Amino acid sequence: MSADPAIMERLHRHGQEHLVQYWAELEAEARAVLVAEIESIDFEQLDRLIAQFVRGDEDIHVAASDVEPIEVTRMPETDGQRASRRRSASLGAEMLAAGEVGVVLVAGGSGTRLGFEGPKGTFPIGPVSSASLFQIHAEKIVALSRRHGRPIPLYIMTSPENHQATIDFLDRHDRFGLEHLRCFPQGRMPVVDRVTGKVLLSSRDHVSFAPDGHGGVLAALAAPAGDQSCLDEMRDLGVNTLFYFQVDNPMVRIADPTFLGLHREAAAEMSFKVVERQAPEEKLGVVVRVKGRPSVIEYSDLAPELAARRIGSGTLELWAGSIAVHILERSFVERMAGDGRLPYHRAIKKTPFLDDSGRENRPDSPNSVKFEQFIFDALPRAERWSIVETDRAGEFEPLKNAVGPESPATVHQRMSDQFGDWLEQAGAVVPRRPDGGVAFGIEISPLFALDAAELRAKIEPGLVVERPIYLR
Ligand code: UD1
Repeated sequence: MSADPAIMERLHRHGQEHLVQYWAELEAEARAVLVAEIESIDFEQLDRLIAQFVRGDEDIHVAASDVEPIEVTRMPETDGQRASRRRSASLGAEMLAAGEVGVVLVAGGSGTRLGFEGPKGTFPIGPVSSASLFQIHAEKIVALSRRHGRPIPLYIMTSPENHQATIDFLDRHDRFGLEHLRCFPQGRMPVVDRVTGKVLLSSRDHVSFAPDGHGGVLAALAAPAGDQSCLDEMRDLGVNTLFYFQVDNPMVRIADPTFLGLHREAAAEMSFKVVERQAPEEKLGVVVRVKGRPSVIEYSDLAPELAARRIGSGTLELWAGSIAVHILERSFVERMAGDGRLPYHRAIKKTPFLDDSGRENRPDSPNSVKFEQFIFDALPRAERWSIVETDRAGEFEPLKNAVGPESPATVHQRMSDQFGDWLEQAGAVVPRRPDGGVAFGIEISPLFALDAAELRAKIEPGLVVERPIYLR
């Protein structure tokens, strides 16, 4: 007995009939699950992606002659520029106090490079407290809400794989005091064999799926869920502007009023924070203009000669590296979710699969293609935008790897250094090593102080820090 003729016909038309090769061995329930999974696949779209990324040999590099630097609001250097940033910060504070700002955190990634099993947001990263990434992010939002006298809603995008584990973790910790929290799962895409383009089976009754990339956030925010989609809920709450960030950077200034104000002053639909790239090979997306339109070229797609192009012998010409911190207008997200499909990118990855003889295969080299959308591909569609430089030391040290750069060790040091700076600005004495780094772990909970100015009001000048310290 074979599957329903309509399904067989569909699979046959797209060359994917192997998906039901174990049909005869499946119980009724397993068959129903498999059919639902197959029906969830848009095979027409998949055919196009396979033609483009598996069979096709598309050159992903943008022609160098089409690429030029983009204008950026640089770090303030003069008194006038500093005063102007203070005005932007007041405007941003007004937006927060008016309850117009919501926060979107994307946390659906698998954290493979970090080699950590659970959702990455549960990783204990506080240099003294071992607070999780989620706790640090949540406490910033709670502190900001108190400061501005309005709850700031947090929307966390999970993946189907880590959704329940994320909710369980947050519930176990009483949602870290957040007043308004909603977790929503992103969509997923079938995983295909990198040579044949056949969709992989993860077991006899399951298709192999992978999260659809953080660009899936647009569709996921608009997806009907429960009573209303996240976007509908935001509209009801009067939230017009969304601060977006990635789970891996504990130093991010969530809903930074200056950034919000600059975004509003530019009447932007989408804004980016950037830092100066330190080296041509640094793994940062690069914000540029392509054929005149603002765009981001991911580091893996940037031709090496473009990545290394310098102004004279000095700075990199394409210096603006995206730290993946954005602001998006809700109306822009609605428009993009409605009609402006983002393009897909290809990721070539190792994926375990069930082979044609029914054996489980754990390949040791990349055997599959995953399809992902990236949120930054929305930038060229924005009618107005703003690109704002920030200070790397104050705001960017992501946790990506188990050891080496961007690992727990570097994140601990960078966080401790920042908190040490704040303490010194408040008149404390902080021991430092010869290289200038603080000598041991220092940590300040966002609930104790969100920034150096707030800390100053709480610390006795002359305090001598003699051992690891966690202020909370
Ligand atoms: C990312 C950016 C890069 C930027 C850098 C800054 C991409 C493709 N690249 O690199 O331009 O300069 O951060 O640190 O974004 N995620 C999901 N769902 C998914 C995939 C990812 O929610 O399906 C989330 C992850 O949980 C994480 C974030 O997106 O919070 C980044 O994903 P990752 O794939 O790790 O990007 P990077 O290579 O680190």
